[in-house]
Amino acid sequence: MPLDLSVQLAPKNKKGLRLANPVMTASGTFGYGMEYSQALDIQKLGAIICKGTTLEPREGNPQPRLVETAGGVINSIGLQNIGVKALIKEKAPVWAKWRVPVIVNIAGDTITEYAELAKKLDGVKGVSGLEVNISCPNVKAGGALFGANPDTAAAVTKAVRAATSLPVIVKLTPNTGDIAGVARAVAGAGADAVSLINSVKAMAIDISRRRPVFSNVTAGLSGPAVKPIAMALVYEVAGVVDIPVIGLGGIATAADALEFIMAGASAVQVGSATYRNPRAALDILEGIEWFMAKDGINKLAGIIGAARPAGKA
Ligand code: DHB
Repeated sequence: MPLDLSVQLAPKNKKGLRLANPVMTASGTFGYGMEYSQALDIQKLGAIICKGTTLEPREGNPQPRLVETAGGVINSIGLQNIGVKALIKEKAPVWAKWRVPVIVNIAGDTITEYAELAKKLDGVKGVSGLEVNISCPNVKAGGALFGANPDTAAAVTKAVRAATSLPVIVKLTPNTGDIAGVARAVAGAGADAVSLINSVKAMAIDISRRRPVFSNVTAGLSGPAVKPIAMALVYEVAGVVDIPVIGLGGIATAADALEFIMAGASAVQVGSATYRNPRAALDILEGIEWFMAKDGINKLAGIIGAARPAGKA
């Protein structure tokens, strides 16, 4: 019997967001997708999430923006991107010809900007859904400030929900004391799914200059170092919302991805692992298939939430 790895990430949405498999590439680590088409068959991925997109193009933060650390990488990109107009004109028409769904990650300084982005992307061919980034740690306004609090997170979600019929995923920050409260609030405000975690607040110091490495002082840590933190938060959130949860944070192997799925994630995103191995997401997908075949699991649904008390998804 052939394996069925398909997942529906927006069961409450009219359009739905059906993926052929649960392995997606995380925003900011896979460009606009086409950059990687020489390295792997991108059409085999479950979905691609493009770089965080703002209303106007952005140049991003001053260098340095990326520092390697034990078990991970600290980034301070500052939302460098081409802006939504160029995305609609240059990227979406290419995506429209692809089998793999592309989800656009959106970011703004104000709630109005998020709503405007959602409105502009509604009905654009080639855009299969939105991921609302209320968790960027590297900009002064918006970003993680919205995502740290249930009320503001819900307000952004509600505004986006009202502006589009596209499936809406809300990306959560670990840099809050109440991620379960934020998840519940965005689910109540109309999110179709949540993704977590974004990068963890971190910093580094340049001892020769006796100054912080990054212009914003703090930045965002991702990679294997954050995986156990992400796991605990995905497990927690999956227990309090009845919408699909997408797990990410340090996934570098199929075993990592399977852990997230058994913790209750319906899908996973591969992020900084792609820096080391551009094929990482596909290698992980193949590893999941191998595991399922080995254990006689025909449907992915058979292992989602398998590690939860009553096998609750
Ligand atoms: C950036 C970093 C993030 O972790 C994020 O969620 C969004 C943007 C950045 O610096 O560009």
